[in-house]
Amino acid sequence: MRTRLTDAFDLTHPIVCAPMAFAASGRLAAAVTHAGGLGLIGGGYGNPEWLEAAFADAGNTRVGCGFITWKMAENQAVLDQVLARNPAALCLSFGDPAPFARRISEVGIPLICQVQTLRDAQHAAHCGAQVIVAQGSEAGGHGERRGTITLVPEVADWLAGQAPDVLLLAAGGIADGRGLAAALMLGADGVLIGSRLWASAEAQVSEAMTDAALAATGDETIRSTVMDAARDINWPTRYTARVLRNAVTDRWHHNPDQLRTDMAARADWAEGWASGDPVRANTFVGEATGLIHDRPPVAQIIDRIAHEAETLLKRAPDWTG
Ligand SMILES: Cc1cc2nc3c(=O)[nH]c(=O)nc-3n(C[C@H](O)[C@H](O)[C@H](O)COP(=O)(O)O)c2cc1C
Repeated sequence: MRTRLTDAFDLTHPIVCAPMAFAASGRLAAAVTHAGGLGLIGGGYGNPEWLEAAFADAGNTRVGCGFITWKMAENQAVLDQVLARNPAALCLSFGDPAPFARRISEVGIPLICQVQTLRDAQHAAHCGAQVIVAQGSEAGGHGERRGTITLVPEVADWLAGQAPDVLLLAAGGIADGRGLAAALMLGADGVLIGSRLWASAEAQVSEAMTDAALAATGDETIRSTVMDAARDINWPTRYTARVLRNAVTDRWHHNPDQLRTDMAARADWAEGWASGDPVRANTFVGEATGLIHDRPPVAQIIDRIAHEAETLLKRAPDWTG
């Protein structure tokens, strides 16, 4: 399958691995690149030692890296640490990319900005992003309220008129070939996939959390701030995170501030998180959890998605007679 994304990044498939904090290790990112997509290490909250290990695990494989922008802004040395690794791309999500865009472009690294609104897509394009990821609310992990199916074409229309060289990826709810084919029809040049690759042999995810996700339907996720309260992380209030519903979200979803001050409950959550327990902590996964039924190697996942999308797109002429 050939799109502007595969041409620009020399890929076999228009598929990018989401830079998922903790889960997108060097091993996962490298596996995605080897499978013909582009792997992004989940730089997340910017732990320098974790990043060093992740790049070491990726070895000589061409991978990029993503940061949670507002958090990286508090310790910008990690940006220079990653840029020195000559990543295939640098992805910034959740916060203003403006203070970092020039530093990234000066060293010749493509900037990917993940956004949740049209306004932020416009801002990212003005900042010089080469790729914009329009992330819908179906997505696992942090995000906002717009749905993928309207946000992607709205951003595509604006880019076509105002910034036609900027590439567009769809994110949020894409877990199979139907999702990839649909994203291309919506005007995207490719997709950024999180949850489906999170449930892979190479992801750094606990088996119990993966099992909980495999057993869940898309009805059983919730966007909440409970896990940020439990970790006492001060995410900007516009963002919530999609996780599996469980007793923790049932208990604290409507009073997360109380959780912040309940040290015993927070300690219990932290223990659950450290041991990968989906009952005592929270499993970060999107609505696509209902489309995910196994945990195969990345190569198999990417191959399946690409072939299913190709088959569907080849069938399209049948519908128009
Ligand atoms: C476990 C998990 C962790 C995530 N962590 C991050 C992150 O650290 N930075 C980021 O930009 N996006 C993060 N995301 C969101 C992804 O970048 C992406 O938008 C999302 O996974 C796409 O939707 P999908 O999960 O339906 O594929 C995370 C997603 C998941 C599932």
